[in-house]
Amino acid sequence: METTLAAAEGLSGRITVPGDKSVSHRAVMLGALADGETCIKGFLAGEDCLSTISCFEALGISISRNENSVIVQGKGLSGLQKPEKTLDAGNSGTTMRLMSGILAGQSFSCRIDGDASLRTRPMDRVIAPLALMGAQFASNKAPLEITGTRLHGIRYSLPVPSAQVKSAILLASLFADGETVIEEPIPSRDHTELMLRACGAGIERRGNHIYCHSAKRLNPFVAKVPGDISSAAFFIAAALITPGSSIQIENVGVNPTRTGILEAFRAMGADIDVINLRSEAGEPVGDILAKHSKLVGTEISGNIIPRMIDEVPVFAVAALAAKGKTVIKDAQELKVKEVNRIDALAKQLSKLGAHVEERPDGLIIEGGHPLTGAVVESGGDHRMAMSLAIASLIAKGETVIKDSGCVDISFPGFFDCLERVKRHAL
Ligand code: S3P
Repeated sequence: METTLAAAEGLSGRITVPGDKSVSHRAVMLGALADGETCIKGFLAGEDCLSTISCFEALGISISRNENSVIVQGKGLSGLQKPEKTLDAGNSGTTMRLMSGILAGQSFSCRIDGDASLRTRPMDRVIAPLALMGAQFASNKAPLEITGTRLHGIRYSLPVPSAQVKSAILLASLFADGETVIEEPIPSRDHTELMLRACGAGIERRGNHIYCHSAKRLNPFVAKVPGDISSAAFFIAAALITPGSSIQIENVGVNPTRTGILEAFRAMGADIDVINLRSEAGEPVGDILAKHSKLVGTEISGNIIPRMIDEVPVFAVAALAAKGKTVIKDAQELKVKEVNRIDALAKQLSKLGAHVEERPDGLIIEGGHPLTGAVVESGGDHRMAMSLAIASLIAKGETVIKDSGCVDISFPGFFDCLERVKRHAL
C-alpha cells in the first residue's frame, strides 16, 4: 500500500488515539498468568498486540475480544501449555523479548519466531541476563529455541536502558527461586512494575534498584489502557509545525517514564498543555492540547532519550520546522529498532529537501529549509511511515509514502485520523 498526502493549511479538532502498546502487551501477558478472568479496556488492537494474543492462545489461554474489551482467562503461573507449533511474534520486539522471560521458566520447550525485521534484531540483550538465571536458549537471534527450566534469582545491572530487557527479567523472576535485583542506571518505562504490583506480586523499587520475588499467584485485574503517548506525539507534532493549528488529544497516558517527548518539544518552545490530569488504574492520564508554535532548535541527549525513544523520529520531523540547529545525541538504540531509524530518517527526510546529518549516535538537523513533497519509503517501519506523514504537512505539493500499511502495527486508523484533523480546519 502507498499513501499520497498533500500539505496542510492548518489542523484542528479533538481526537483520541488508540490504546498504549506497552500497556496492552503487558495486560495480556499478566492476565494470562493470573488466576482467573482479566478484563482489558481500551486495548490496542494493532498488529503487535494481536501477535501477543495469538502467542498466548497457542499456549492454551482462552482470549475473547469485543468492541470495548479483551477478556483473558488466566490459568495461573503454571497454567501455560506446550504450543503445538512455533509461536509467531510478527514484527513485535516487545512480544518476543518479554515472552522470552516467561517461556524460559516453563516446564516445556518451544520456539518463537518473527518477521524478517524481527529476525535481525538483537536478542542477546535479554538472553544474557536470562541465561544467568539458568535459562536455556539455543540461538541469540530469532527464531529462538527455548528450553524451559527452573530459574534462580540474580542481581543484574542493565547495560542498556531498555524496558524490554528489564521486563523480561522481571517476568522470569516470577518463576525463579530467591530474590532478583535489577539495577537500572537510567530509568525506562515502568509499566511492568506498576502492573505486577497491581496483581499482588512481591515487587518493590528503592532508588534505581528493583527487587522482585517469585510469585505463588497473580491476581486477575481490570486494566484501563490509556491512549498511547507515542501515537499522540504524531498529532502533537502536526499541530506544532502546521501554521494555524490547534489539536486536543484526549485520554493520553502521561506516565513520567514516557513524557520525555513533551519536555523535548517544550525545550523547542512548543505550546503544549496537559489538562484534566487524573489517575486511571495506576497510570496517570490527561488531555493534551497542542498549538502551532514558533519552534527553535535544541539539543536532546542523555537520560531523556529512553523516556522518548519511540518519539525521536517525529521529534526529528518537528526539528525541520524549528529555527536553527537541533542536535540528537546518545540515541544509538534507534539503530536496532524496526529499521535503523537514524539512517532511515537521514535518507528519507533528505528526499523532502531537509538538511539532516547522520551521526553515530543521532542526527544534526538544520531547521527552516523549505520542504518539497517526494516519494519516500517507510521500509515497513510504522513510526517512520507516520513521521513521514507528519513531515508531508509542511512539504509543498504531494508526498507519496511507500509501504504505508505498516501504521496498523501500532495505530490502526492513523491516516483517517489525519484526514479528520485536516478537514476540521476547513
Ligand atoms: C517498549 C520498550 C522500548 C520501546 C518499544 C516498547 C516496551 O524498547 O522502543 O517500542 O514496551 O517495553 P526498548 O526496551 O528496546 O528500549
